[in-house]
Amino acid sequence: MKTFILSPKIVHEKGAIQYLKYMDLGKVLIVTDEFMVKFNIVKKITKVLDIKSTGYEIFSKVQPNPTVDLVVKGLQIILNFNPDTIIAVGGGSSIDTAKGMMLFFDNLIKKKDIKDVQNPYFIAVPTTSGTGSEVTSYSVITNSENGMKMAFNEDIMFPDLAVLDSDFTSTVPPKVTADTGIDVLTHALEAFTSNMSCDYTDILAEGAIKSVFNYLLIAYTNEEDALAREKMHNASCMAGIAFTNAALGINHSMAHALGGKFKISHGRANAVLLPYVIEYNSEIDEYYEELENSCAKKYAYISKILGLPCSSIREGVMSLVKAIKVLNKKLDIPITIQGLGINEKEFNKVLDEMSKLAINDICTEGNPKKADKNSIKKIFIKAYSN
Ligand SMILES: NC(=O)c1ccc[n+]([C@@H]2O[C@H](COP(=O)([O-])OP(=O)(O)OC[C@H]3O[C@@H](n4cnc5c(N)ncnc54)[C@H](O)[C@@H]3O)[C@@H](O)[C@H]2O)c1
Ligand SMILES: [Zn+2]
Repeated sequence: MKTFILSPKIVHEKGAIQYLKYMDLGKVLIVTDEFMVKFNIVKKITKVLDIKSTGYEIFSKVQPNPTVDLVVKGLQIILNFNPDTIIAVGGGSSIDTAKGMMLFFDNLIKKKDIKDVQNPYFIAVPTTSGTGSEVTSYSVITNSENGMKMAFNEDIMFPDLAVLDSDFTSTVPPKVTADTGIDVLTHALEAFTSNMSCDYTDILAEGAIKSVFNYLLIAYTNEEDALAREKMHNASCMAGIAFTNAALGINHSMAHALGGKFKISHGRANAVLLPYVIEYNSEIDEYYEELENSCAKKYAYISKILGLPCSSIREGVMSLVKAIKVLNKKLDIPITIQGLGINEKEFNKVLDEMSKLAINDICTEGNPKKADKNSIKKIFIKAYSN
């Protein structure tokens, strides 16, 4: 049965962090990375906690692409400190780490390994406009031993409150703005074409796609543009709601494998693969006549609402692919895997393994066109040097 979950409550405007002043937070554990502490971003929260909480601790060990080991360290802090509230502040890596900690803690409660405790109230304050993790039940955690990225999807990982305060994104450097912004586009496009999409997810995905094409380049070239920052922050959240309900697709499965193997940022891995995945899903290289499949029609529809040339389904798909490559170029993102600086020999060595990982990734389930190891391999090869 198709379902659409509206969770959590979202407070969203510049300065929205002040909302915490009206809450009873009790003992608070902040989960974040060192940058957030060093550059006083966490201070915007602790200023409120100094008045409102009954004490707080900061766990600031988060690294990009968080590992299981890190989550276990964070779990230990929950067990020792016993917080009433967890506030994750940072990009997807900080929010996903906190989500992993929530999941592991909940497992201990369910197994009755710990008693007389409750799950903490969970607040997410995103500082990048990208993952939408503040409104999803997903968390992506890396296996510490083999670097494999694993996507988990559990309801306990839905935050209880998302605070979208675009003031928190004003310090994001252009490269991170670019990568995370294309992550938003990938979420929205995969949700829009997913075989689990519905009217509710479509409208959010559409809104997010339009915002990316209208505002991402502005946010990239002018960090100070408050409107562009706010629009991208909302777009990230809308795409998050769309994909947590509609699922993602092989673009994310392949990006998890590629990013995990070669330490490429999540958004950048998605960005490079996106044009090639659209070509695969639309079957543009398989037929010479007009395209008939519903996924190609959806891509063409997106071209139409973006005002791109779209006199036929085929032209619409081609226009979208071209527009994404142009956007990537303007954002200084390479349009091939080779362009990411990945050596061909190294790439070929792990190609088979990456393709297998991608097929087994949970995101593959939502892809509109069936994919097997061979088809994934072909997309990787095409994306390597085009
Ligand atoms: N849970 C989900 O639904 C979901 C969805 C997509 C991706 N992910 C995962 O999220 C992670 C990526 O998250 P991300 O793209 O937000 O990047 P990130 O959290 O790894 O942050 C990237 C870098 O930007 C810095 N940064 C963050 N906010 C900043 C700010 N306001 N000012 C200056 N610097 C700032 C961080 O310190 C870090 O060095 C990956 O592990 C990815 O797999 C999760
Ligand atoms: Zn993503």
